[in-house]
Amino acid sequence: MSNVWPLSATRDSDGALSIGGVDVRDAAATFGTPLFLLDEADIRSRARAYREAAQHVGASRVYYAAKAFLSTAVAQWVHEEGLGIDVASGGELAVALRAGVPGADLLLHGNNKSMLEIETAMSAGVARIVVDSFEEIVRVADAAARAGLVQPVLVRLTIGVEAHTHEFIATAHEDQKFGFSVSSGAAEEAIRRIVKLPSLEFRGLHSHIGSQIFDTDGFEEAAIRIVGFIDRLRTDQVVDVPELDLGGGMGIAYLPSDDPLSISDLASHVAQVVSQECARRELTVPALSFEPGRAIVGPAGVTIYEVGTVKPVAIDAGVRTYVSVDGGMSDNIRTALYDAKYTVELASRTSTAEPMLVRVVGKHCESGDIVIREAYLPSDLVPGDLLAVAATGAYCRSMASNYNYLPKPAVVGVMNGIPSVVLRRETIEDMLALDPGAQ
Ligand code: LLP
Repeated sequence: MSNVWPLSATRDSDGALSIGGVDVRDAAATFGTPLFLLDEADIRSRARAYREAAQHVGASRVYYAAKAFLSTAVAQWVHEEGLGIDVASGGELAVALRAGVPGADLLLHGNNKSMLEIETAMSAGVARIVVDSFEEIVRVADAAARAGLVQPVLVRLTIGVEAHTHEFIATAHEDQKFGFSVSSGAAEEAIRRIVKLPSLEFRGLHSHIGSQIFDTDGFEEAAIRIVGFIDRLRTDQVVDVPELDLGGGMGIAYLPSDDPLSISDLASHVAQVVSQECARRELTVPALSFEPGRAIVGPAGVTIYEVGTVKPVAIDAGVRTYVSVDGGMSDNIRTALYDAKYTVELASRTSTAEPMLVRVVGKHCESGDIVIREAYLPSDLVPGDLLAVAATGAYCRSMASNYNYLPKPAVVGVMNGIPSVVLRRETIEDMLALDPGAQ
């Protein structure tokens, strides 16, 4: 059974949950609910584990995938632990730069980067731009030429391997928006064009095969295919490939029954496959890099909601109790979008009451506004109780919306008993400020 709670989660003597030494009741009273709590020590230790695992296998870099969740504080925590940051938009780039992360520790992604994003990244000196289309090769080359510099680039590949939790498909069709297809020849053509452009420096290849992956098969299959491609590039005398970025996608436990891979196992498996394949083909082993997002921040985050209503509804199998909380699909769209599963507990007290079957739902005007489709909570649950949903550090606040004009929740870092605001709660005034008619 996996632990789904942040490393510092404990129950106080009176049964209330505390994270990073902060009682969730105090945090809720101070910062309001819904509230995201982020265990800083947990994030730092995960970042460190990735850096150490990467160093152990001789990998060159680990970039934290900012899309999972980004603020200046989080950028600083992971950067202080030795990670670079992968940004996928001008907004993410701006936050990382404002946090003081130097361009040399950043990598820029995106399948449709704007000229402004490319130019801003270049003037910040980003270490790598991952190019994703023929148009973009020209745009990046032109921008670099105008700026009088040589921009190091990676080429994003589509290799026909797609992996998600518990399964991977090695014959996945390539009908998707990212990357250059290896099998169609587009990837080789992209590299041929890049090496002819004096304002670009070809540094290597990039592949990201999916997200929330639990086994090494997909990564290994991807690595084998890519090394085969590297061999072809050498045979065809196109270019040598010094670097290989294998993207992110490392899964985490949302439920105690989830069994994610340890990063050291994953890194050593993949590094071994790459070096064996390279040895077999007498190729120099490229420097590996990884881009974990979810695995760094996901398990370190918890959402605290306040229960508003408790409504028993008759269903075929008996009764299901709908527990409405003060957020919902605006702070966690993953259940509605991906049918994601979460673990929930009563956080403000303990209870010895019998468990009841519940569905935790939000406050939005939509019946699909479900946070947790099926869970068990104590049958003495009442309005005012606090619930904690585990493993919400990744892709919840970062994918939050203002649906129904709900302000986005605050994110508060907790460590050593001290809470610190990472992102303040939005206010209705913040939203009204966008509306000229409301001024
Ligand atoms: N690198 C690239 C190029 C990516 O596209 C992604 C995620 C990552 C790294 C980080 O992947 P991670 O380690 O976090 O799995 N919204 C979805 C996940 C989308 C991931 C998109 N790309 C979710 O909530 O599950």
